[in-house]
Amino acid sequence: VIRVSQPVFLGNEATYVADALAKGQLSQGEYVLRFEEAFAKFCSAKYAVSCNSGTAALHLSMLALGVKPGDAVLMPALSYVATANAVAYCGGYPVFVDIDSKTWAIDVSKIEEALLNAKVSGLKPVGILPVHLFGVSADMHELNSIAKKHDLWLVEDAAQAHGMLYRGCAPGSFSKTACYSFYANKILACGEGGMLTTDDELIADLAQLYRGQGQHPADARYFHRVVGYNYRMTELSAAIGLGQLECYPEHVRRRKIVVEEYQRLIDENLPRQERPQDSADWMFAVLVPSEDRDDIAEKLLIRGVETRPVFPPLSTLPPHLERFVPPVSYEISHRGICLPTHAGMSEIDVRYVVDSLKSVGPSPYYTAVERFGMVARGEW
Ligand SMILES: Cc1ncc(COP(=O)(O)O)c(C=O)c1O
Repeated sequence: VIRVSQPVFLGNEATYVADALAKGQLSQGEYVLRFEEAFAKFCSAKYAVSCNSGTAALHLSMLALGVKPGDAVLMPALSYVATANAVAYCGGYPVFVDIDSKTWAIDVSKIEEALLNAKVSGLKPVGILPVHLFGVSADMHELNSIAKKHDLWLVEDAAQAHGMLYRGCAPGSFSKTACYSFYANKILACGEGGMLTTDDELIADLAQLYRGQGQHPADARYFHRVVGYNYRMTELSAAIGLGQLECYPEHVRRRKIVVEEYQRLIDENLPRQERPQDSADWMFAVLVPSEDRDDIAEKLLIRGVETRPVFPPLSTLPPHLERFVPPVSYEISHRGICLPTHAGMSEIDVRYVVDSLKSVGPSPYYTAVERFGMVARGEW
């Protein structure tokens, strides 16, 4: 089976893990520090604070920024549930904004209206949390000016965007923090793990405080200043992460080939996410007729090609349920199918996936509603 994602170990991962084991160091030690230092450099950030998941990195950011009940944080309606959960953990309220039909990132033209609606509902908008979905950047320039105008902070969910650049800058350059995940299916993977990058010393300090059960590294032992969390990264995760990071250029090179081959071989009439050159090649997705999507996925699996659907809109999930489902998010969620994208794939694998896709559909007919949407966007 060609898996939809798969970790690939190209460097010193096993050596570093064996070294940590030989030293009897399982909890935060030398590798955690080395990984943090290397990751900060990789993102051109002053500080990198490791933690045990991307979700924890987002939660630590919300804690450090003081999100509290009654606060509203604007985010795209299409993301993984962790983006919304991080705000809810603090009692804050995620406000869902529709996505751009080309980049699938937050639609900046819808933000003013969402801010107004949040205020009318009695909420206090405090920040915007854009997501670089599948490694494609949100419009950070426009987000930056909206944030400045309304005195909001920006935090970037870069869980899927290791190494992505926006106008030559890494995530975090325009915002308070950028939050990464090292979950097993990510571009750099260590099983479970996360990292928060920031240029703000106070935020880095607070993130460390909340990460370590409310005890700052500079505090006396067992002195806990606040109710904190155990969000520490293990030494073994850091050992794997450091090994992955050292081979980043090769991971990128291999993923680029996969995505370029998809772009070249897949029928140009099949709509897909617009991917600028500096995107991180986490996942390649195409849009098929919604009523055929699950059938196509099943048939592909029979041919040995694993896929995954695009996430459901956050506002359709029980903990974050809203009556209004933003239409572009709905459409892309129901029509989107992610094809295998990882550094272990050969060009022959890519060709096999594309040939399989051709042989099982997608059928050339679209529902009237989908066709209407495509005509409106000039895709038909
Ligand atoms: C967009 C997004 N945000 C946050 C997360 C959370 O990361 P983790 O699974 O490491 O907690 C993920 C993970 O898949 C993600 O895709």
